[in-house]
Amino acid sequence: MRHEFLRVERGGRGRLDYTCGMKKVLVTAGASGIGLAIARAFHAGGDRVYICDIDLPGLERAADAMPGLLTRRCNIGDREEIAAMVADAAARLDGLDVLVNNAGIGGPTKPVQDLDPADWDAVLKVNLTGTFDVTRHAIAHLIRSGSGVVINMSSAAGRFGYANRSPYSASKWALIGFTKTLSMELGEHGIRVNAIAPGAVAGERAERVFQGRAQATGKSIEEVKRAAMAGQSLKALVDPDDIAALAVFLASDAAKSISGQVLPIDGDMQRA
Ligand SMILES: NC(=O)c1ccc[n+]([C@@H]2O[C@H](COP(=O)([O-])OP(=O)(O)OC[C@H]3O[C@@H](n4cnc5c(N)ncnc54)[C@H](O)[C@@H]3O)[C@@H](O)[C@H]2O)c1
Repeated sequence: MRHEFLRVERGGRGRLDYTCGMKKVLVTAGASGIGLAIARAFHAGGDRVYICDIDLPGLERAADAMPGLLTRRCNIGDREEIAAMVADAAARLDGLDVLVNNAGIGGPTKPVQDLDPADWDAVLKVNLTGTFDVTRHAIAHLIRSGSGVVINMSSAAGRFGYANRSPYSASKWALIGFTKTLSMELGEHGIRVNAIAPGAVAGERAERVFQGRAQATGKSIEEVKRAAMAGQSLKALVDPDDIAALAVFLASDAAKSISGQVLPIDGDMQRA
């Protein structure tokens, strides 16, 4: 199956040019959740996909489900592991066209004055510094690609304040600054850099966040869920497959003029 919207008619000659379909794609934290949905979508479109994660059984499950998928254990909070992982990805993919910086951890649900500084450091290390490290090692390969793409996974928490989640929110705002700056630095190489900002996504993580909020506020899970939906126009959690489709679109030639942008996918959230 090819991505239908990737068929671009060139020069009015009626020739269909499949500009995607054999891209070399690296997705961090691809063993489950949004990363897995993104890996699946690229794989289904005929692209060559490499995922890394800290969850070895998860990597094995993903490899079983997707023939040809390349995997490696890598902690996105570890600089040396990242350097080795990106080199391995570029070698086994034989280049790199698309980098999806998806890895991100939620961190604690606490007000700033109660935060353990070690928790602050841990969140920033994975969400921000890890993205920086993966990207800096990937840039030379993306330049060689001639039309490289970077997609950074921000969040609605990177567009709004997010009470009791300061390290998470700060890291996701920082990723937007990183995205916009990188777009300016790499545009001359034909590399496009965008951020996706999902709202509350259906899945285990959303359940964990709702539980954390319930504990922090003393409300029931149902009350917390109702309150979460009150801040958005569409009263539903986001489907991870829709985020994956957005990532595939951003990596395609159809998005060739889009860079330095933050694309919310959140049912029209007005607050996080
Ligand atoms: N789920 C949401 O509601 C939501 C909303 C907005 C943004 N996001 C962002 O989307 C991204 C993916 O979120 P998700 O909900 O799929 O995450 P998740 O919690 O389901 O985890 C996805 C994967 O990350 C891996 N992982 C965790 N720490 C890692 C590390 N240090 N190194 C490598 N892999 C690691 C896990 O093993 C897991 O396989 C994150 O950046 C997150 O901040 C999620």
